[in-house]
Amino acid sequence: MAAERPWTAPPVNAGSGVTDSSITIEGVRQVFGDTVALDGIDLHIRMHTRLGIVGPSGCGKSTLLSNIAGLVEPSAGSVAIGRATTAKERLARCALMPQKDLLLPWRSALDNACLALENRGVHRRAARERARPLFERFGLAEFEEHMPAQLSGGMRQRVAFLRTLMAEKDVFLLDEPFAALDSITRASMQEWLLGALTQEPKTALLVTHDVDEALLLTHHVVVFSARPGRIVHKLDTDFPTNVPRREIVTSPEFAHLKEQALEALEV
Ligand SMILES: Nc1ncnc2c1ncn2[C@@H]1O[C@H](COP(=O)(O)OP(=O)(O)OP(=O)(O)O)[C@@H](O)[C@H]1O
Ligand SMILES: [Mg+2]
Repeated sequence: MAAERPWTAPPVNAGSGVTDSSITIEGVRQVFGDTVALDGIDLHIRMHTRLGIVGPSGCGKSTLLSNIAGLVEPSAGSVAIGRATTAKERLARCALMPQKDLLLPWRSALDNACLALENRGVHRRAARERARPLFERFGLAEFEEHMPAQLSGGMRQRVAFLRTLMAEKDVFLLDEPFAALDSITRASMQEWLLGALTQEPKTALLVTHDVDEALLLTHHVVVFSARPGRIVHKLDTDFPTNVPRREIVTSPEFAHLKEQALEALEV
Protein backbone atom coordinates (compact mmCIF):
# COMPACT_ATOMS: atom_id res chain seq x y z
CA MET A 1 0.00 0.00 0.00
CA ALA A 2 2.87 2.37 0.86
CA ALA A 3 3.99 2.63 -2.75
CA GLU A 4 0.49 3.60 -3.89
CA ARG A 5 -0.02 6.36 -1.39
CA PRO A 6 -0.88 9.46 -3.36
CA TRP A 7 -0.05 11.71 -0.49
CA THR A 8 3.21 12.31 1.27
CA ALA A 9 4.13 14.63 4.10
CA PRO A 10 5.32 18.08 3.02
CA PRO A 11 8.99 19.01 3.23
CA VAL A 12 10.49 20.25 6.48
CA ASN A 13 10.80 23.81 5.23
CA ALA A 14 7.77 25.11 3.44
CA GLY A 15 8.14 28.00 1.00
CA SER A 16 9.51 31.38 1.92
CA GLY A 17 7.30 33.59 4.05
CA VAL A 18 5.96 30.63 6.00
CA THR A 19 6.99 30.63 9.64
CA ASP A 20 8.47 27.35 10.81
CA SER A 21 5.98 25.56 13.03
CA SER A 22 7.93 22.36 13.59
CA ILE A 23 8.08 21.28 17.22
CA THR A 24 11.25 20.08 18.92
CA ILE A 25 11.03 18.48 22.34
CA GLU A 26 14.26 17.50 24.05
CA GLY A 27 14.66 15.61 27.30
CA VAL A 28 11.39 16.81 28.76
CA ARG A 29 10.70 15.75 32.32
CA GLN A 30 7.74 16.97 34.34
CA VAL A 31 7.50 16.57 38.07
CA PHE A 32 4.55 17.64 40.22
CA GLY A 33 5.51 17.27 43.89
CA ASP A 34 6.22 13.54 44.33
CA THR A 35 4.71 12.63 40.98
CA VAL A 36 6.91 12.19 37.94
CA ALA A 37 4.41 12.73 35.12
CA LEU A 38 6.78 12.64 32.13
CA ASP A 39 10.35 11.52 31.74
CA GLY A 40 12.86 11.68 28.90
CA ILE A 41 10.53 12.83 26.15
CA ASP A 42 12.34 13.48 22.87
CA LEU A 43 10.24 14.25 19.82
CA HIS A 44 10.55 16.16 16.60
CA ILE A 45 7.32 16.94 14.79
CA ARG A 46 7.93 18.25 11.32
CA MET A 47 6.08 21.29 10.16
CA HIS A 48 2.57 20.54 8.92
CA THR A 49 2.57 16.95 10.08
CA ARG A 50 0.07 15.43 12.47
CA LEU A 51 1.19 13.39 15.44
CA GLY A 52 -1.11 11.14 17.45
CA ILE A 53 -0.39 10.43 21.11
CA VAL A 54 -1.92 7.42 22.84
CA GLY A 55 -1.21 6.11 26.30
CA PRO A 56 -2.80 5.01 29.54
CA SER A 57 -4.70 7.46 31.71
CA GLY A 58 -2.40 9.61 33.85
CA CYS A 59 0.74 9.07 31.74
CA GLY A 60 1.22 12.78 31.06
CA LYS A 61 -0.38 13.31 27.64
CA SER A 62 -2.25 16.47 28.64
CA THR A 63 0.81 17.62 30.55
CA LEU A 64 2.92 17.41 27.40
CA LEU A 65 0.41 19.59 25.52
CA SER A 66 0.59 22.14 28.37
CA ASN A 67 4.39 22.02 28.14
CA ILE A 68 4.29 22.68 24.40
CA ALA A 69 1.75 25.50 24.73
CA GLY A 70 3.85 27.14 27.43
CA LEU A 71 1.16 26.83 30.11
CA VAL A 72 3.45 24.67 32.25
CA GLU A 73 7.22 24.94 31.85
CA PRO A 74 8.82 21.48 32.03
CA SER A 75 10.88 20.70 35.13
CA ALA A 76 13.75 19.76 32.81
CA GLY A 77 14.40 19.74 29.08
CA SER A 78 13.25 22.12 26.39
CA VAL A 79 10.43 22.74 23.93
CA ALA A 80 10.67 24.87 20.79
CA ILE A 81 8.16 25.73 18.10
CA GLY A 82 10.31 26.84 15.22
CA ARG A 83 12.44 29.49 16.85
CA ALA A 84 9.94 30.18 19.62
CA THR A 85 11.48 28.88 22.82
CA THR A 86 9.98 30.93 25.66
CA ALA A 87 6.62 29.97 27.15
CA LYS A 88 5.08 33.26 26.03
CA GLU A 89 6.29 32.88 22.44
CA ARG A 90 5.03 29.30 22.28
CA LEU A 91 1.62 30.24 23.68
CA ALA A 92 1.27 32.79 20.90
CA ARG A 93 1.77 30.08 18.27
CA CYS A 94 -0.64 27.45 19.65
CA ALA A 95 -4.35 26.83 19.63
CA LEU A 96 -5.00 24.41 22.49
CA MET A 97 -8.23 22.52 22.85
CA PRO A 98 -8.12 21.35 26.47
CA GLN A 99 -9.62 18.07 27.61
CA LYS A 100 -12.32 19.94 29.54
CA ASP A 101 -14.19 22.29 27.27
CA LEU A 102 -13.75 25.38 29.50
CA LEU A 103 -16.37 27.42 27.69
CA LEU A 104 -17.15 30.73 29.34
CA PRO A 105 -20.57 30.16 30.96
CA TRP A 106 -21.69 33.76 30.49
CA ARG A 107 -21.10 33.86 26.74
CA SER A 108 -23.35 32.25 24.14
CA ALA A 109 -22.03 29.34 22.05
CA LEU A 110 -21.37 31.68 19.12
CA ASP A 111 -19.59 34.25 21.29
CA ASN A 112 -17.47 31.49 22.86
CA ALA A 113 -16.40 30.36 19.40
CA CYS A 114 -15.44 33.94 18.52
CA LEU A 115 -13.32 34.52 21.59
CA ALA A 116 -9.89 34.08 20.00
CA LEU A 117 -10.74 36.29 17.05
CA GLU A 118 -12.07 39.03 19.32
CA ASN A 119 -8.94 38.80 21.45
CA ARG A 120 -6.99 39.53 18.29
CA GLY A 121 -8.97 42.68 17.68
CA VAL A 122 -11.58 41.40 15.20
CA HIS A 123 -14.89 43.17 15.79
CA ARG A 124 -17.48 40.93 17.46
CA ARG A 125 -19.95 41.25 14.59
CA ALA A 126 -17.35 40.29 11.99
CA ALA A 127 -16.16 37.38 14.14
CA ARG A 128 -19.75 36.13 14.54
CA GLU A 129 -20.26 36.21 10.79
CA ARG A 130 -17.14 34.10 10.30
CA ALA A 131 -18.20 31.54 12.88
CA ARG A 132 -21.82 31.17 11.81
CA PRO A 133 -21.30 28.91 8.74
CA LEU A 134 -19.19 26.54 10.84
CA PHE A 135 -22.04 26.17 13.34
CA GLU A 136 -24.17 24.84 10.56
CA ARG A 137 -21.40 22.57 9.31
CA PHE A 138 -20.93 21.09 12.78
CA GLY A 139 -24.60 20.40 13.39
CA LEU A 140 -24.99 23.33 15.76
CA ALA A 141 -27.30 25.52 13.67
CA GLU A 142 -29.97 27.15 15.85
CA PHE A 143 -27.84 26.69 18.94
CA GLU A 144 -25.69 29.78 18.31
CA GLU A 145 -27.38 31.84 21.02
CA HIS A 146 -27.63 29.03 23.59
CA MET A 147 -25.53 29.35 26.71
CA PRO A 148 -23.06 26.49 27.45
CA ALA A 149 -25.27 25.17 30.28
CA GLN A 150 -28.07 24.67 27.76
CA LEU A 151 -25.93 22.50 25.46
CA SER A 152 -25.22 18.77 25.63
CA GLY A 153 -21.68 17.57 26.40
CA GLY A 154 -21.09 16.68 22.76
CA MET A 155 -22.33 20.09 21.63
CA ARG A 156 -20.07 21.88 24.07
CA GLN A 157 -17.17 19.85 22.78
CA ARG A 158 -17.96 20.86 19.22
CA VAL A 159 -18.13 24.54 20.23
CA ALA A 160 -14.75 24.20 21.96
CA PHE A 161 -13.34 22.52 18.84
CA LEU A 162 -14.71 25.32 16.70
CA ARG A 163 -13.18 27.91 18.99
CA THR A 164 -9.80 26.19 18.58
CA LEU A 165 -10.08 26.27 14.80
CA MET A 166 -11.16 29.88 14.80
CA ALA A 167 -7.98 30.86 16.63
CA GLU A 168 -6.20 30.45 13.27
CA LYS A 169 -2.87 29.47 14.80
CA ASP A 170 -0.32 27.33 13.00
CA VAL A 171 -0.04 24.72 15.77
CA PHE A 172 -3.09 22.75 16.91
CA LEU A 173 -2.97 20.88 20.20
CA LEU A 174 -6.10 18.77 20.48
CA ASP A 175 -6.71 16.89 23.72
CA GLU A 176 -9.35 14.20 23.20
CA PRO A 177 -11.33 16.52 20.93
CA PHE A 178 -14.04 14.01 20.06
CA ALA A 179 -14.26 11.95 23.24
CA ALA A 180 -17.75 13.12 24.19
CA LEU A 181 -19.30 12.48 20.77
CA ASP A 182 -21.46 9.60 19.57
CA SER A 183 -19.78 7.42 16.96
CA ILE A 184 -21.60 8.91 13.95
CA THR A 185 -20.91 12.54 14.88
CA ARG A 186 -17.39 11.53 15.79
CA ALA A 187 -16.73 9.97 12.38
CA SER A 188 -18.12 13.03 10.65
CA MET A 189 -15.98 15.42 12.74
CA GLN A 190 -12.89 13.28 12.14
CA GLU A 191 -13.52 13.42 8.42
CA TRP A 192 -14.02 17.14 8.57
CA LEU A 193 -10.79 17.67 10.53
CA LEU A 194 -8.82 15.53 8.12
CA GLY A 195 -10.23 17.46 5.15
CA ALA A 196 -9.49 20.82 6.81
CA LEU A 197 -5.93 19.88 7.73
CA THR A 198 -5.26 18.49 4.27
CA GLN A 199 -6.54 21.67 2.67
CA GLU A 200 -4.81 24.00 5.10
CA PRO A 201 -2.04 22.07 6.83
CA LYS A 202 -1.06 22.78 10.42
CA THR A 203 1.37 21.13 12.76
CA ALA A 204 -1.04 19.19 14.92
CA LEU A 205 -0.91 16.97 17.99
CA LEU A 206 -3.88 14.79 18.70
CA VAL A 207 -4.21 13.10 22.07
CA THR A 208 -6.72 10.28 22.01
CA HIS A 209 -7.65 7.04 23.74
CA ASP A 210 -8.92 5.71 20.44
CA VAL A 211 -6.17 3.90 18.53
CA ASP A 212 -8.26 3.84 15.32
CA GLU A 213 -8.68 7.59 15.51
CA ALA A 214 -4.95 8.14 15.97
CA LEU A 215 -4.09 5.86 13.05
CA LEU A 216 -6.69 7.38 10.74
CA LEU A 217 -6.02 11.05 11.37
CA THR A 218 -2.25 11.38 11.74
CA HIS A 219 1.05 10.75 10.00
CA HIS A 220 2.82 9.34 13.04
CA VAL A 221 1.67 7.90 16.34
CA VAL A 222 3.62 7.64 19.57
CA VAL A 223 2.61 5.30 22.35
CA PHE A 224 3.36 6.37 25.91
CA SER A 225 4.07 4.03 28.81
CA ALA A 226 2.18 4.27 32.08
CA ARG A 227 3.38 7.08 34.38
CA PRO A 228 6.02 8.36 34.21
CA GLY A 229 5.12 8.75 30.56
CA ARG A 230 7.90 7.68 28.21
CA ILE A 231 7.71 6.97 24.50
CA VAL A 232 7.67 3.19 24.13
CA HIS A 233 6.70 2.89 20.48
CA LYS A 234 6.52 4.97 17.30
CA LEU A 235 4.43 4.16 14.25
CA ASP A 236 4.29 5.73 10.81
CA THR A 237 0.70 5.81 9.62
CA ASP A 238 0.07 8.26 6.82
CA PHE A 239 -2.92 6.60 5.20
CA PRO A 240 -4.26 8.31 2.09
CA THR A 241 -6.91 10.90 2.82
CA ASN A 242 -8.86 10.31 -0.39
CA VAL A 243 -9.68 6.66 0.20
CA PRO A 244 -12.93 5.69 1.96
CA ARG A 245 -12.45 5.14 5.64
CA ARG A 246 -13.96 1.65 5.52
CA GLU A 247 -11.37 0.58 2.97
CA ILE A 248 -8.56 1.79 5.24
CA VAL A 249 -9.77 0.25 8.48
CA THR A 250 -10.31 -3.12 6.83
CA SER A 251 -6.86 -3.17 5.18
CA PRO A 252 -4.16 -5.55 6.44
CA GLU A 253 -1.79 -2.54 6.88
CA PHE A 254 -4.22 -0.91 9.27
CA ALA A 255 -4.73 -4.14 11.21
CA HIS A 256 -0.97 -4.59 11.49
CA LEU A 257 -0.37 -1.07 12.83
CA LYS A 258 -3.28 -1.37 15.23
CA GLU A 259 -1.93 -4.61 16.60
CA GLN A 260 1.46 -3.01 17.17
CA ALA A 261 -0.11 -0.04 18.96
CA LEU A 262 -2.26 -2.26 21.18
CA GLU A 263 0.71 -4.46 21.99
CA ALA A 264 2.74 -1.39 23.00
CA LEU A 265 -0.20 -0.28 25.13
CA GLU A 266 -0.23 -3.75 26.67
CA VAL A 267 -3.93 -4.01 25.98
N1 LIG B 1 -1.13 20.75 37.75
C1 LIG B 1 -0.87 19.57 38.28
N2 LIG B 1 -0.51 19.45 39.59
C2 LIG B 1 -0.21 18.25 40.12
N3 LIG B 1 -0.26 17.08 39.46
C3 LIG B 1 -0.62 17.15 38.16
C4 LIG B 1 -0.95 18.37 37.52
N4 LIG B 1 -1.26 18.11 36.23
C5 LIG B 1 -1.15 16.78 36.08
N5 LIG B 1 -0.77 16.20 37.25
C6 LIG B 1 -0.48 14.76 37.44
O1 LIG B 1 0.39 14.37 36.39
C7 LIG B 1 0.03 13.07 35.92
C8 LIG B 1 -0.25 13.14 34.44
O2 LIG B 1 -1.47 13.85 34.25
P1 LIG B 1 -2.09 14.15 32.81
O3 LIG B 1 -3.34 14.90 33.00
O4 LIG B 1 -1.05 14.78 31.96
O5 LIG B 1 -2.36 12.67 32.27
P2 LIG B 1 -3.11 12.19 30.94
O6 LIG B 1 -2.19 11.23 30.26
O7 LIG B 1 -3.57 13.36 30.17
O8 LIG B 1 -4.34 11.37 31.52
P3 LIG B 1 -5.83 11.16 30.92
O9 LIG B 1 -5.69 10.19 29.80
O10 LIG B 1 -6.59 10.60 32.06
O11 LIG B 1 -6.33 12.50 30.47
C9 LIG B 1 -1.14 12.62 36.77
O12 LIG B 1 -0.65 11.83 37.82
C10 LIG B 1 -1.72 13.92 37.31
O13 LIG B 1 -2.31 13.71 38.57
MG1 LIG C 1 -5.39 14.07 29.66
